[in-house]
Amino acid sequence: MKHKIGILGFGTVGQGIAEILTEKRATLKQRFGFEFEVTAIAGSRYGTAYNPNGLDLKTLLDDVHKGNQFSKDRVDWDNLKLIRESDTNIWCELTYTNLETGGAAIDHVKTAIKAGKHVVSSNKGPAALYYSELSLLAKKHNVMFLNEGTVVAGTPVLNLANGPLAGCEITKIQGILNGTTNFILTEMEKGVGFKDVLKIAQEKGYAEADPTGDVEGYDARAKVVILANIVLQSPVSINNVSCKGITEISLTDIDVAKKEGKRWKLIGSVEKTNTGITASVAPQKISIDDPLAGISGTKNALTFTTDLLGDVTIVGPGAGKIETGFAILNDLLRLHFEN
Ligand code: HSE
Repeated sequence: MKHKIGILGFGTVGQGIAEILTEKRATLKQRFGFEFEVTAIAGSRYGTAYNPNGLDLKTLLDDVHKGNQFSKDRVDWDNLKLIRESDTNIWCELTYTNLETGGAAIDHVKTAIKAGKHVVSSNKGPAALYYSELSLLAKKHNVMFLNEGTVVAGTPVLNLANGPLAGCEITKIQGILNGTTNFILTEMEKGVGFKDVLKIAQEKGYAEADPTGDVEGYDARAKVVILANIVLQSPVSINNVSCKGITEISLTDIDVAKKEGKRWKLIGSVEKTNTGITASVAPQKISIDDPLAGISGTKNALTFTTDLLGDVTIVGPGAGKIETGFAILNDLLRLHFEN
């Protein structure tokens, strides 16, 4: 079957997956029998393009790289009409995260699922705020709602836990879940001030559209909630997770920690206990010998505590265009293998 893919949102992640698909088209067909066309793209800054026979991704990427609007196959449809009426069987929801209400992404996901189309999302809003409802809706309509790109970019975390680790019981997940803050803390150790590093993180596309979400810990908190819901299958809501970011950590604090043989890291954690579930996000001063102390820059690390294997840790990129684009490919291939 040839997949017909639609992309909502053509920012960092949308362009990342479009570049990967363009580059790997032949390999994906040859190795996995994965054949596709991207037939629809809605990018608020660039317009909406639709061609049921497949869009010319190279031209559209060129347009965007030059800062222009899409030059081919433009249509004047709104997103919901595009989702419903286009020739697509998979929608990638890659618009910017809104952790207050979920924003338009919630309607995008619901509309796609109700139209019998699979959804792959890197947007943390739907998964952090409405996972139970949306996954039930997907089940009812016999489609998949996949979210690998919401946690630790393309480093496979959700598909690892629910794939190769599925036979283990996972009781605790803990680690560094936000690339921007880890990058900031790493650079601050070199003496660079908070505001200057944050600016670099924004320029490089690591930070969220509104970086408050990163530095106050809200992004990591959303990931903790997603891990609780999808991996631990425990419905935790954002309000149940205590949360503190890194804005109060000064260069002096970093220096003091260094002298104590320690390092500041923003740690997210969720654990099943006898009485329920506990979850938190907070900066911690950890010993330089701790494996998490060695995780620098935008790298993230996550440890799963399991019944059969003890601790299993995965380390990898936690942010970035191609790195998060890969998460979308990971879910697209999962859809391909499982349907
Ligand atoms: N802003 C996020 C981070 C991007 O820095 O980790 C990936 O979710």
